[in-house]
Amino acid sequence: MLANKRILLIIGGGIAAFKSLDLIRRLREQGANVVPVLTKAAEEFVTPLSASALAAEKVYRDLFDLTDEAEMGHIELSRAADLVVVAPATADLMGKMAGGLANDLASTLLMATDKPVMIVPAMNVKMWEHPATQRNLATLQTDGVRVVGPDEGPMACGEFGPGRMAEVPEIVDAVSAFLSDGPLKGRHILVTSGPTHEPIDPVRYIANRSSGAQGTALAEALRDLGANVTFVTGPAQVAPPEGVTVRKVETAGEMLAAVEAALPSDAAVFAAAVADWRVENASDQKMKKTEGAGLPALEFSENPDILKTVSQMTTGRPGLVVGFAAETNDVEANATAKRARKGCDWIVANDVSPETGIMGGSENKVSIVTADGVEDWPRLSKQETARRLAARIADALK
Ligand code: C5P
Repeated sequence: MLANKRILLIIGGGIAAFKSLDLIRRLREQGANVVPVLTKAAEEFVTPLSASALAAEKVYRDLFDLTDEAEMGHIELSRAADLVVVAPATADLMGKMAGGLANDLASTLLMATDKPVMIVPAMNVKMWEHPATQRNLATLQTDGVRVVGPDEGPMACGEFGPGRMAEVPEIVDAVSAFLSDGPLKGRHILVTSGPTHEPIDPVRYIANRSSGAQGTALAEALRDLGANVTFVTGPAQVAPPEGVTVRKVETAGEMLAAVEAALPSDAAVFAAAVADWRVENASDQKMKKTEGAGLPALEFSENPDILKTVSQMTTGRPGLVVGFAAETNDVEANATAKRARKGCDWIVANDVSPETGIMGGSENKVSIVTADGVEDWPRLSKQETARRLAARIADALK
C-alpha cells in the first residue's frame, strides 16, 4: 500500500516515542521506506540504534553532521521524502513549528521541507489544553499541517484526558490515506468560500447568509482526491477543513489579494458569496445615533469581481475556472449569461430562493453550465454535490 513511499519520521522527546519504534515497523510492513530523525530529547526515550535497526536506515540526529559535503544536506533530506511525519509531536516541537524556529536538525528540516507534514501530538493533558498549544495547533492547521489524534485516555504521568499519542494503526491508516495516489495528486486547486463582511464602521458590517458549507465540502472532496488545496475563506459558520492551506479574510478586497497571492493553480473554484458592494464612506469610529442629526447616508462602491478578474487573466490563468451562481429566478438563463459575462469555464448554478432551504442548509440542487450546455443534477447533500463536482474537475484536468 505504501510501496516506494519515503517517509521522514521525526521522533520528538516524549514518553510516547516508544510507539514510534513500532510505527517504523508497521510503515515498513506496508512497503514504506522510513528515515528516522531523532531530537536530542528523543534520545532520552529511544536509542538511535533501535530506530536505525528497525528502519534499516541511517538515523539522523545532528544538524552540523549534515554540513559535511559527503553527507546528505538538510535541504535534500527534508525534500527527498513524500511525507514528513512528526511522532510524537511534543508541545515544544509544535511551538517551534508554529513559530518558525530552526535551531536543531528536526526543526530545520521542518522549515526547509517542501513536502506535506503530518503531526501526531502527544503530551500531558494540561499541556495539550494550554492556550499556547491550542494557538500553535490552529496556526499549524492554517499552514496545511495534518493532525492525527491525540487520543483521550490514561497517560503515563497518571492524569487522564486528551493528549495520548494516537495508536500506531491509526497513524498508519492516516499516512496510507494521505499518500494514496488520488487523481488530483500534485495538482494545486484554489477554492474560495463563505461570505464577505464589508465594514460600515468598526462594529457594524454588511454580510450575507452564506454559511460556507458548500465551499468547505468542496475543498474536502478535492483534498480527498489528492489535490493540494488553498482555501480562501470569508467569516463562515463552518470550520475550515483540515489538511488544506487556509487563508482567512474578511472583505472582498482582502479575498482578491489572497486569491492573487495563492496563484498559480491548476484550477480555481469560486464558491464564495462575495459582496457586490462595499461602503465607500465606512467610518473609522463607531457611528453615533445623535438626536436630531437624521439617518446616516451610506455610499456604496463596487467591489472587485474576483471570478471575472481571474477568468480574464491573460497570463497565469488557471486551466479551469469555475464560478457559482446563486439565483432566485431564471436560474439556467441567468447562469448561462453569467458564464459568458465572467469568462469562466463552468458555472455551478443553484436556486437560493428561501423556499428551497439551500442557503445555509445541508442540501443543494445544482446545474452545471459548460460550453457544452446545461446539466441538471438531482438534489443531493452538499457533501455529495462536492464529491461529484470534485470528480468532474479531476476528469477535466486529466
Ligand atoms: O455576479 P455574481 O455574484 O452572481 O457571481 C457569482 C460568482 O462570482 C461566484 O462564483 C462568486 O464567487 C463570484 N464573485 C466574485 N467576486 C465578486 C462577486 C462574485 O468572485 N465580487
